[in-house]
Amino acid sequence: MKPNGKKLDGKVAIVTGASKGIGTAIAKHLAAEGAAVLVNYSSSKQGADRVVDEIAKQGGKAIAVRANVAKKTEVEHLFSETKKAFGRLDILVNNAGVYEFVPLESVTEEHFHRHFDVNVLGSLLAIKEATTKYFGPKGGSVINISSSASISAPPTASVYSATKAAVDAITKSLAKELGPRKIRVNAINPGMVETEGLHAAGFVGTDFQKSFEAQSPLGRIGQPDDVAPAVVFLASSDAAWITGETLVISGGYR
Ligand SMILES: NC(=O)c1ccc[n+]([C@@H]2O[C@H](COP(=O)([O-])OP(=O)(O)OC[C@H]3O[C@@H](n4cnc5c(N)ncnc54)[C@H](OP(=O)(O)O)[C@@H]3O)[C@@H](O)[C@H]2O)c1
Repeated sequence: MKPNGKKLDGKVAIVTGASKGIGTAIAKHLAAEGAAVLVNYSSSKQGADRVVDEIAKQGGKAIAVRANVAKKTEVEHLFSETKKAFGRLDILVNNAGVYEFVPLESVTEEHFHRHFDVNVLGSLLAIKEATTKYFGPKGGSVINISSSASISAPPTASVYSATKAAVDAITKSLAKELGPRKIRVNAINPGMVETEGLHAAGFVGTDFQKSFEAQSPLGRIGQPDDVAPAVVFLASSDAAWITGETLVISGGYR
């Protein structure tokens, strides 16, 4: 811990997809621990600006930058804006993601590519950019927001679950590849978390929620603030000897 009691003082973090949901909570928790935060969004400028304002009101530092993580040139722009604003990069949180549950007969090439482009390619492009150009000689921490669906693989979620299983595999492989450069790569696998996206996808208040709660020892779905503190932990020196792990945060649901 730093002299001011903040775990991430002097650090700089990028959080992709931070204009709402889990990403917003992660950005706020990282900033509360002293990190300067790049709040990435894809379409919700208003949401991202609100997050930046809220962080500033708490005495933190943040800026918002639009970029579609599935596009290499936009990812490059995102990172160069971070360097321009804050001068360095220590933490990358790959949170941007899409999820649509459909039965097999509705799986199309478009559905497949949209999920894999954002959830898998987006994370790979960002990790490549961070680790080849921006993390310094002291390394850095990458945290991929995967999902408990990578393990539970619920019905009608074949493509989404496959993207998150890919994220878990990427996490383990890159932890081995990048460890010698002091770069740690971990994943967090949340269960069902109440977010704007979850509401928009029509999951809240459904049998799916009831079934999740019935199978969860803690008997409830999660909130973004249930997930964000673990990101702070994995980003901080408290987790200095932890890499290649996938941490399920789901109230005990599997
Ligand atoms: N909620 C859950 O139950 C749950 C459970 C397990 C895992 N997760 C994972 O947690 C992450 C966040 O989920 P959430 O529920 O918080 O989602 P959400 O409320 O729908 O928010 C998604 C965020 O990702 C951004 N985004 C989407 N596509 C993007 C792209 N191509 N480039 C950059 N940003 C993009 C959105 O930006 P705009 O608003 O600007 O478009 C938004 O900020 C996802 O990876 C999801 O798979 C969620």
